[in-house]
Amino acid sequence: MNILSKVAIPHASRPASDSLTIKESIVLPPDTNHHGTIFGGKLMAYIDDVATIAATKHSRRPVVTASTDSVDFLYPVKKGDAVSLSAFVTWSHKTSMEVFVRVVTEDLLTGKRKVCATSFLTFVALGDDGKPVEVPGVNALSDEERLLFDTAPERKEARRIRRQESKHFANYMGTDSAIKNVYAPPVSGQSANKGYESAWGVEW
Ligand SMILES: CC(C)(COP(=O)(O)OP(=O)(O)OC[C@H]1O[C@@H](n2cnc3c(N)ncnc32)[C@H](O)[C@@H]1OP(=O)(O)O)[C@@H](O)C(=O)NCCC(=O)NCCS
Repeated sequence: MNILSKVAIPHASRPASDSLTIKESIVLPPDTNHHGTIFGGKLMAYIDDVATIAATKHSRRPVVTASTDSVDFLYPVKKGDAVSLSAFVTWSHKTSMEVFVRVVTEDLLTGKRKVCATSFLTFVALGDDGKPVEVPGVNALSDEERLLFDTAPERKEARRIRRQESKHFANYMGTDSAIKNVYAPPVSGQSANKGYESAWGVEW
């Protein structure tokens, strides 16, 4: 057993650039949809991969993805293009780390490059007992790193509120509760919103 995961030792901060991770791939036919552009899910898997490596480098612990902020697909990525993802830990709190990922697409024949997506993800480091464990702080040195570092607490607060809402929603839509009051169009002689036990008539 790793003694560091048992004993509370203050963690020194690490430069954000120490966790910088870059992944580059060419977009092949199996990665694309019928429009000849990359599947959104494929790009999201790449984002999660590269961010996982960055968070692990920073904490040197196994990590899990706690959440992914929204991913906006700004430009299509075409078959034959290269996608380059760069990720680094921007900020950490007690046991969680925020990772910023930038995705750049490059038309390999013209050399034209565009930022096609950006995303923030949160990872939690786990101790040998599988519970969240403290992580090192982040030293933000460049202007870009400082901007992301300074604005991170605000994003963390937004995630805290979103998580509460998700939990509330999960309880409401939970496996023990039937879905009630789903809108039902009025049938002649009856009023709308009669309420179903389940929207699809199946158990969840
Ligand atoms: C993420 C997880 C480890 C949090 O564990 P927990 O026992 O609920 O722990 P806490 O509530 O104390 O949260 C621990 C940290 O995670 C952060 N966190 C938890 N859920 C979060 C979320 N949805 N978004 C952002 N941060 C989150 C907390 O703010 C806290 O950060 P801090 O210690 O830096 O202040 C747990 O919910 C889990 O295992 N989820 C499933 C993860 C998973 O399977 N991911 C996909 C596959 S890798």
